[in-house]
Amino acid sequence: MCVKRERNRPKNFKNMQMKHRPRRLRKNGIIRAMVAETRLSSEMFIYPYFVTKGKKIKSPIKAMPDVYHFSIDELVKDVEKSLKLGINKLLLFGVGETKSKQGKSSHASKSIIATALRRLRAEFGQDLYLLTDVCLCAYTTHGHCGVLAGNQVLNDPSLEILSKMAVAHAEAGANMVAPSDMMDGRVASIRAALDKNEQTEVGILSYSTKFASAYYGPFREAANSSPQKGDRRGYQMDIRNANEALKESLLDEEEGADMLMVKPALAYLDIIQNIKNHTLLPLACYNVSGEYSMVKMAVKHGLVKEQQLVMENMYAFARAGADIIISYHTRDILEKGWL
Ligand code: PBG
Ligand code: ZN
Repeated sequence: MCVKRERNRPKNFKNMQMKHRPRRLRKNGIIRAMVAETRLSSEMFIYPYFVTKGKKIKSPIKAMPDVYHFSIDELVKDVEKSLKLGINKLLLFGVGETKSKQGKSSHASKSIIATALRRLRAEFGQDLYLLTDVCLCAYTTHGHCGVLAGNQVLNDPSLEILSKMAVAHAEAGANMVAPSDMMDGRVASIRAALDKNEQTEVGILSYSTKFASAYYGPFREAANSSPQKGDRRGYQMDIRNANEALKESLLDEEEGADMLMVKPALAYLDIIQNIKNHTLLPLACYNVSGEYSMVKMAVKHGLVKEQQLVMENMYAFARAGADIIISYHTRDILEKGWL
């Protein structure tokens, strides 16, 4: 006896013969899970933190719901919670440092980031994998990512300072530095500086293909890093360029980057896919502040279901070819069991 398949099938209705019925593989959750082509795991996620001076500070960033500025004491408490959820890769940003023309505070041995690195290392040892953003925009009075002369951001003089910053972070305990400035030759310059200072084990996650994007808006409020004059289009990439996007990443691979990155992520899935097809390095994508806040605002206004929308975005990144996802949603995803 064959099982009656379609209980409520209308009378006088006969099924057709059909060789291909893709819906068979969508019948229920079990089969859908078995044939799913893309999988996510907690290991793929890097969680960004904004670290600031002072004590007992956990202050909400208005433009980024559920994201905070932490003083180091509060950071330690929060990182402990993250660790329990399986979040063990952190990307640190320094905020509120004294600004100067050449961003001197970026490479001080007592900078907020160096201090945070030492403290986190002392508290959590090797349970944490620590990455740091290497860029000058949060440390310069003019808010550009390199050394400014007139209205030009100078390339080679910037390399020297960025390299010092990378070495300072390495000496304080960073596992990887992540240069986000988009100067030419920075990966080679930072690699050489690290090696010269006996930091051969410290890696480089290059923001290798970083576009001049409006999606960084909320971050610039968070990091107080907006350019005072002009914009970043003289160094960050033109949003119209796909060939150049590949070229930028391949140059960084050639210069010795350990991992590559595409940033932003959502509007650049084509770029992620293309780079993934041309490199042997692990590829990260940065699901940036504007992408994050757009989702949070839409949720707040009841327009979308948060879990569904967030996970749709995460699967899109992985499907396009991202091996690693840097996202402010990481905490929600793991805390609320969305994986
Ligand atoms: C620093 C830097 C920026 C971001 C990461 N590192 C801002 C920028 O380039 O203006 C953006 C991160 C985000 O928007 O979440 N150069
Ligand atoms: Zn910058």
